[in-house]
Amino acid sequence: MANKIQLTNNFPDITQSNELYERALKVQKPVTQTLAKGPGQFTKGVAPKYLVKGKGSHVWDADGNEYIDFNAAIGPVSLGYAYPAVDDAIRRQLEDGITFSLMHPLEVELAELVQQVVPNAEAVKIAKTGADVCSAAIRVARAFTGRDKVFCCGYHGWHDWYIGITSRNAGVPQATQDLTYTFEYNDIDAIKAALDETVAALILEPFIFEAPKPGFLQQLAEVCRENGTLLIFDEMWTGFRVALGGAQEYFNVKADLAVFSKACANGMPIALLTGRADVMELFNSEVFSYTTFGGEALSLAACIATINELKDKKVPEYLDQNGALLKDGYNQLAIAMGMDQYTRCIGFNCRSMVTFTPEAGNPLELKTLMQQEMIKRGILWAGFHNMCYSHTSEDIDYTLLAYQDVLQIIKEAILSGDVKSYLKGEILEAVFRKVSNYNIKPKSAAL
Ligand SMILES: Cc1ncc(COP(=O)(O)O)c(C=O)c1O
Repeated sequence: MANKIQLTNNFPDITQSNELYERALKVQKPVTQTLAKGPGQFTKGVAPKYLVKGKGSHVWDADGNEYIDFNAAIGPVSLGYAYPAVDDAIRRQLEDGITFSLMHPLEVELAELVQQVVPNAEAVKIAKTGADVCSAAIRVARAFTGRDKVFCCGYHGWHDWYIGITSRNAGVPQATQDLTYTFEYNDIDAIKAALDETVAALILEPFIFEAPKPGFLQQLAEVCRENGTLLIFDEMWTGFRVALGGAQEYFNVKADLAVFSKACANGMPIALLTGRADVMELFNSEVFSYTTFGGEALSLAACIATINELKDKKVPEYLDQNGALLKDGYNQLAIAMGMDQYTRCIGFNCRSMVTFTPEAGNPLELKTLMQQEMIKRGILWAGFHNMCYSHTSEDIDYTLLAYQDVLQIIKEAILSGDVKSYLKGEILEAVFRKVSNYNIKPKSAAL
């Protein structure tokens, strides 16, 4: 779809968004179902709060304003909004029904397809959310190893075993909190030192924005194998994006278990757990993990259609190429404008992130200013380039033009020493992710 968004000097009219929000505050607690979509991540007073429509790479807010979207619905939109091949599959299934009283053949079809594309998929389990499959993986790993402790790195959903180690852990019993530990990404020596015979599973996102050091993931697999600990890859972001078979394919390494959601169904709610047959066999016996909507057929149909499309259209390669244009284009602009000491775009091409250096000032103020100015130019920007197959070269060209404009404003603001005075709305909140204050398990701790 051609980009029709024009550079403009107007902030969007967000009257309807604000009215909806006022109603929400009276009745919803919390107001958002996904923290990353909530008002803390989009500057109040400037950014829209509600989206009502999407087509391709563009979205429309409740007031009718159009934006290029680089959030991909926080991951799920891998092909594009209202993508015909997926929506047709959903419509066809809708004619026959949504959820049934027996198993559905699409469950078998999807599992066979996943087995073809995901390297460690000796067996496949289907569920609904990322947290579902992360927790199922942890439970089955505990049952298989007869151990309780878990090492993790990254974000793994809202369930007790993980959220207990974050700052937002009210309601999680201390006994549960005491079973999970974090480790520092890329620090194989620290992991080796801390692993012992009490650790059931080590779960991590194979990468977030920092690349693994050469051999890190392979060493991790080896260290886990030697220690009798199961290695779990949380591939919510990497799966079906960096390669069809996710990080396992991309880095040529196998995890004992791997979990997927987001990109695999272009927006429909479904999650997958893949892994070793001997471990997964426990789901047939002593480990309980079932849910009413697990076999909901619209999502199964969407997932099959999405994976086939990702495969046929070589989407991971496309995301890599298009994402590189944006990431490298941003960094070249920063260099050309003498801004590279203040800002850089980092990460993998399929999912990169704009960062600010400490010399630039308060990163949340700077991010807020950049968001404000990008939104003014019709780009729904939250700091990330979550690429999808529908982003066109016109979208990329336009976005780089906008960055050129906006970086000039950011430069002025930094040099003025008063970024805050440039802000029209409220300062953003920090993204909720466990990337600091690690509680690494000391080797000697008798826990
Ligand atoms: C890496 C990772 N793991 C797990 C989850 C949890 O997935 P969900 O929100 O679908 O439960 C997320 C969600 O953002 C995630 O990014």
